[in-house]
Amino acid sequence: MKPITLKFFSRALLPAALLLSAPTFANSNLSSIHGIADDAPVANKYALFCGGCHGLDGKGEIEADVPMMPPRIGAFLYDEEGAWYMVNVGGVMSAGISDQDAADIMNYVITSFGAESVPNSTYRFTAEQVAKLRENPPEDLVKLRRDISKRLEKRGIALPDHYPWN
Ligand code: HEC
Repeated sequence: MKPITLKFFSRALLPAALLLSAPTFANSNLSSIHGIADDAPVANKYALFCGGCHGLDGKGEIEADVPMMPPRIGAFLYDEEGAWYMVNVGGVMSAGISDQDAADIMNYVITSFGAESVPNSTYRFTAEQVAKLRENPPEDLVKLRRDISKRLEKRGIALPDHYPWN
């Protein structure tokens, strides 16, 4: 594994700091330790938990080894293990978010950044599914990603660019 740069972490924390100091949040009913209301818009949750690394546009950053979500992030769903992979990646697991938030954010991600790439445009993650998929996390995420990539390649389906450990 490559060393994680300082830049990487500072990018991760910046939007959290911005959101926590935003006036809209100061007056709302803050129901979680993260300082964001359960019913906050999913775009804000994405910004807070994911946007620091992945960017608000999901385009990530090559230098920091963050893959580019658009336009192919939904392509994982062509593989039977794709949803399992997606909900268990490091950034999603370490965010400490509820199954419902994880499902909502994933749906935001596939519809905002991968709408053209999903096998079925009506596909939506559910909290129950996320809970199940997180029960047995993959032992080796990089290997799982490579396996999925190989299987999909045979079907002529490409995954997001700039994945660091292809
Ligand atoms: C600290 C930075 C960071 C945060 C925060 C983060 N991610 Fe990531 N994410 C990465 C990196 C780096 C990768 C690629 C390597 C890996 O899997 O760790 C990645 C990979 C992914 C992938 C797989 C992409 C692929 O092509 O294999 C998905 C899906 C994803 N992240 C979703 C999310 C979501 C949703 C959130 C918020 C809940 C999130 N990430 C938060 C850094 C982050």
